[in-house]
Amino acid sequence: MPALTDAVPAGEAALLRRARDEFAAVFARGATVAAAAPGRVNLMGDHVDYCEGYVLPVALPFLTVMVGAPSNSGTCRVVSVQDSGRQEASFPAPTAANPLKPGEPAWANYVKGVVANFPGPVEGFDAVIVSDLPMGAGLSSSASIEVVTFTLLEALSGIRTEPVRKAQLCQKAEHEFPGMPCGIMDQYVVTMAKKDHALLIDCRSLESTQVPIFNSDTAILVINTNVKHQLTGSEYPQRRAQCQAAADILGKPSLRGTTVEQLEDLKQSNCDADVLKRARHVVEEIRRSEEITKYFKTRDWERVGELLYESHESLRNLMEVSCPELDALVEVARATPGVYGARMTGGGFGGSVVVVVKKNSVDDLKKRVLSQYKGNPTFLLAIPSDGARIINI
Ligand code: GLA
Repeated sequence: MPALTDAVPAGEAALLRRARDEFAAVFARGATVAAAAPGRVNLMGDHVDYCEGYVLPVALPFLTVMVGAPSNSGTCRVVSVQDSGRQEASFPAPTAANPLKPGEPAWANYVKGVVANFPGPVEGFDAVIVSDLPMGAGLSSSASIEVVTFTLLEALSGIRTEPVRKAQLCQKAEHEFPGMPCGIMDQYVVTMAKKDHALLIDCRSLESTQVPIFNSDTAILVINTNVKHQLTGSEYPQRRAQCQAAADILGKPSLRGTTVEQLEDLKQSNCDADVLKRARHVVEEIRRSEEITKYFKTRDWERVGELLYESHESLRNLMEVSCPELDALVEVARATPGVYGARMTGGGFGGSVVVVVKKNSVDDLKKRVLSQYKGNPTFLLAIPSDGARIINI
């Protein structure tokens, strides 16, 4: 029996059933198409995707499922089903003369942005979204909604898009509609992940490598702080701008490929102290993504763990995107026998930490977190899962 604090994946079949039932209840007919997209946890490489660095995320077994049917009404009606109840949004199917614009309700901008960027005509449709992915936990619930919407539109229209292009269009949707200047990592892994693998993404060439994750004695445990500080909205764009400022001083398109000597040049340039710290984080974090990939392959968990702790320190002290709750969880993990390493994951200012831990130490770690961490943490196992797909209705 999992503890109450364990998030257990509902599974694709149960989510599909729920979405179909809701669709029938709301629209009084059957859905004709369905799609699923996972969330993700990033193992290494945070705040480097927008600097064209390397990142190493895995897709989670927690999903967003969307079902739909054409409506012939010229309107897109979308119902999102949450524990708190149903939320509904509707907007006209876009035309050249009447393109979509962001607006209220805010949650629907993730859907609208994708409809607006879909590479083909979108006719009116009705749809229902259900998800067992925790929201605001730094596990890419936004990218999951974007990519599931795109995949549903593929199923409705018969138009297929090459996966990297699909991820880019979903990223563009997030820039233009919710207005979040994110990198490509989340949409890319949510689109392209493969079961039992992490994905090493080169955010410059946009090529990627599937990295087998052997999980026999070792678990990847995600601990959600269940806090989300309001800073995220303003601080993320600022970090991105600071990294670009460093690249501009060095006369480079991005910080990718920056050497230690160039960091020294940056220091000599008398640039802003924060800009210098951000640049140092990016350069070292990109190296950590490449290195940790090797150690995951050779199952050198001690080295994996050291790099996780190093990354956390850097995100805390150089990038300054951690918070007391994330730091506290990393410290509980550090003091627990059987834990190899831990770090915050994703954008920061709340959200989750990721821990690599011996399987037989997972329960001990949970107990220690529950007794020592002053908050309401929840746990989930990151079992590397498949990316987005059309599912059989
Ligand atoms: C958010 C963004 C990503 C990435 C991470 C930090 O999740 O959506 O593009 O920048 O933060 O690594």
